[in-house]
Amino acid sequence: MQRTVLTETPAKTKRRNFIISAIYAFPFLIGGTLAASVGTYLFGKSNGDPDGWADAGDVGDLQKNVPRQVSFVRSVVDGWQVQNEKANAWVILDDRQQVTAFSPLCTHLGCAYQWQTAKKAFTCPCHGSVFNSRGDVLAGPAGRPLDRYQVKIESNRLWLGPLQTQKDT
Ligand code: FES
Repeated sequence: MQRTVLTETPAKTKRRNFIISAIYAFPFLIGGTLAASVGTYLFGKSNGDPDGWADAGDVGDLQKNVPRQVSFVRSVVDGWQVQNEKANAWVILDDRQQVTAFSPLCTHLGCAYQWQTAKKAFTCPCHGSVFNSRGDVLAGPAGRPLDRYQVKIESNRLWLGPLQTQKDT
């Protein structure tokens, strides 16, 4: 009886190894994709800086002593979750070329105040508090100046950091 020996060409061996590798890699590819999706769901995708700074836009065209309300997205850490949150600030460029960013909430009870160009002051519609362009109280019942965000400017981009509570007046 004659015995037949099957030999395989190098090309066939290469193809078989590739297919086997692909079969073994497929579950890892699926698992990695699922893990990335779950991670994004649980921890969110951060739009802000890891140190808590958020890009609040271009300030190259800010006019002196004319406040502008800006919107931005900041990352908020809540326990083990990081969430993106929309926020606002009133931004003003003063005579010394310093940029200040105020929290948009009145320090009395947290209403949203507005800039009144005619009065050159921030006025709160809820109980009538008035603040000047430096955030100081001109009229109560608010008992302390407007809170400010930490500010830094890089290449004409305004970056807002943590909110700093101002002391009582
Ligand atoms: Fe602004 Fe009361 S909340 S004056």
